[in-house]
Amino acid sequence: MSKSHYSDLGTPNKITRAAENLRKGGVVAFPTETVYGLGADISQPEAIKKIFEIKGRPYNHPLIVHFAKLAELDFWARNIPQKALILAEHFWPGPLTLILPKSKHVPLNATGGQNTVGLRIPRHPIALQLLTELGSHKAIAAPSANRFGFISPTTADHVKETFGDSIDIILDGGHCEVGLESTIVSCLDNEITVLRPGGISVSQLESVLKQRVTIQPHNRVIRTSGSLVSHYATITPLEICHSKSLFARACDLQQRKIRTAIVIWGKHEIDIQQKTSKLLHYIFMPDNPIEFAQNLYTTLRDLDNKNFQQILVEAPPDNPEWLAITDRLTRASHTFHK
Ligand code: TXA
Ligand code: MG
Repeated sequence: MSKSHYSDLGTPNKITRAAENLRKGGVVAFPTETVYGLGADISQPEAIKKIFEIKGRPYNHPLIVHFAKLAELDFWARNIPQKALILAEHFWPGPLTLILPKSKHVPLNATGGQNTVGLRIPRHPIALQLLTELGSHKAIAAPSANRFGFISPTTADHVKETFGDSIDIILDGGHCEVGLESTIVSCLDNEITVLRPGGISVSQLESVLKQRVTIQPHNRVIRTSGSLVSHYATITPLEICHSKSLFARACDLQQRKIRTAIVIWGKHEIDIQQKTSKLLHYIFMPDNPIEFAQNLYTTLRDLDNKNFQQILVEAPPDNPEWLAITDRLTRASHTFHK
């Protein structure tokens, strides 16, 4: 958490005001350990409607319901299988969302009309304090605080840049610790299935459950909006390219006079002619998945704000620890070069 400064944690009044605002049917952006969320009190139908409007999100795409106390899990969900409880106890507060049958306390407008609900207890101190101040048996429905289909925000400034004044209060919790969205795990029909890889890796889930876990191929999931093929997208066309063909591809783009940002993580000797090219700009990312994830969205946003015509990203290692990163890059990409 070294990068976070939690600037609004030192000003508890702002969190109290944010909780009041939620109670009155307002919308508040707040930090979580994964990405920033755009929150509404789930008992306020008008506020929930506002979230869909602000984001430009279709009303049938369910929102994640955030709450603070594990003891309240059975207030929000029904028929909770033992395996879901094991995961909740082990990973909450943390970057894991469990899909469970919803209780009568969860309104259908928050679940996009489905009788299931995505639940999570976030780990960020501001999110937890906001939920605690809102009160017991209260919850915040919150999608990521970005326009539908685009990159999630990992700083308060990202939220401001996107939404400006259309949000009543933006709580600043510094840079998000994880930097990618939560892992979504369906616990329905006695099966444990990963619907969206994220902050908790599949091997972490498997070691706690002591079983293999299925990963739903994303082109077949229709209920999870993050699974639409073009999602988490940059405005500048993004292309993934395998390490072995990266420099040839860069050379090709250079010859075609395409201003390109090249995001690499491997240790490469970069050709002097490419290094000094005015058309090519190299960005060096960490070669471990935790730090890569922390930096990914900020890097892509920065590059999107610059005058590039193309973003070329070195394909991540084919390794389970990089699964969530590969997933987001693939959804953001327009092309994949083998
Ligand atoms: O890390 C996160 O999960 C962040 C922070 C703010 O908590 N939230 C987030 O929300 O990424 P959102 O709305 O951008 O993505 C949530 C995903 C959506 O793709 C939604 O379709 C899925 O969760 N989801 C929510 N409830 C569901 C349900 N009942 N069944 C299937 N998918 C569900
Ligand atoms: Mg989202």
